[in-house]
Amino acid sequence: MKRILSGMQPTRQLHLGNYLGALKNWVDFQKDTDMQRLYCVVDLHAITMPYDREQLAQSTLEITAAYMAAGIDPEKSTLFVQSHIPEHSQLMWLLATMAQMGKLERMTQFKDKAGKNKERACLGLFAYPVLMAADILIYKATHVPVGEDQKQHLELTRDLAATFNTRYGVEFFPQPEPVIAGPAPRVMSLRDGTSKMSKSADSDMTRINLTDTPDIIAKKIKKAKTDSYPLPDNLKDLEGRLEALNLVTIYAALADISKEQVIKEFAGQQFGNFKPALIDVAIEHLAPITSRMNELLDDKTQIEQALHAGAAQAREIAAPVLADVQKIMGFIK
Ligand code: TRP
Repeated sequence: MKRILSGMQPTRQLHLGNYLGALKNWVDFQKDTDMQRLYCVVDLHAITMPYDREQLAQSTLEITAAYMAAGIDPEKSTLFVQSHIPEHSQLMWLLATMAQMGKLERMTQFKDKAGKNKERACLGLFAYPVLMAADILIYKATHVPVGEDQKQHLELTRDLAATFNTRYGVEFFPQPEPVIAGPAPRVMSLRDGTSKMSKSADSDMTRINLTDTPDIIAKKIKKAKTDSYPLPDNLKDLEGRLEALNLVTIYAALADISKEQVIKEFAGQQFGNFKPALIDVAIEHLAPITSRMNELLDDKTQIEQALHAGAAQAREIAAPVLADVQKIMGFIK
C-alpha cells in the first residue's frame, strides 16, 4: 500500500505556484483508492526563522483552509498540524543521533537561509531536514510529493532511513520516493521568467495569491511580462520565450488541458487576445477556491473539526511506529 505524505509551511499566503505545483496534485491523488494520504501544515518548521506568533496561528488556519478549499477532503486524506503530533519531534531527536553534521552542512537550503552569518544561525534551522525526515518516517511514508528544491532533503531522509536500518540490523523504514509531478511543477514569476513564483519576492505583482480578488488577478495578468511576438503554432518555438511559456503553462494547468492544446487554440494570436482568455480561466478556477477559503475562515468550526480528527488518525499511525523505534533502539518501557 502506497502512503503519501507532504506538507507546507504556514508562512504567509499560498500562491498559484503552490497550488499548481503541489496542492492540485495532492487533490488529484485522492482519486487513487490504492493509496493512503497524509497532508500536514508544518508549523514547527515555520519557527526556524524569525516569525510572529499571531501570524503563525493565522497562517496555520489559512493554509488548512486553502487545503480544504482546493479540494483536500478530510474523509479521503488525513489533514493535520505537525505540532499536534508530538511523535514528530520525538523521532527527530532519535534521528538526530544518526545525522552527520557534514551532511547537514551541505544542505543548500540551510546555506541560503543562514546567509553570511552562519555562526548565528540556530540549531533548529540546521536540524530542519532532520525534522522533515521525522515527518516522513514517523508514518513510514513511501512517496513524498515535493518541489525540486526539497529533493536534497528527501535524499537525506532516505539516507537516515538506511542508516537506521543498517545500524540496528532491521528492515524497518522504507525508502521514501520523491514524487515530482503536478500540472505545473514550476510556475515562474509573472515579472521574470527566470525566477520561481515565490512568497518571499518583494513585489506582489510577481505572483497570484489564492486570496486575490478577481480584479487583482486581472490586473496582475494584464501587467505580466511578455514579449512582442504572437504565440507560435508549436511548443518548440516557445523555447527561450520564458515569460510566454510560463503563461501558456499556467493556462494549460488551470484549464486542465495540455500545453499543445493551448498552442493550437491560440497560434498566431497576440498577448492582447491571450491574456483576457487567461484572466477568464484563472478567475473561473480560482474564485471558487478563494470564496470557499473565506467561508471556512469566517466560521472555523469545520477547520477545527477536520484538524482534530486528522490529528487522531495521524497519531494512530505515529505512536506505534515511535514505540517500535524505541524498542529497536534499546529503550525500556
Ligand atoms: N521543507 C518543505 C518545504 O519547505 C516542507 C516540509 C516539511 C515537507 N516537512 C515535510 C514536505 C515533509 C514534504 C514532507 O517545502
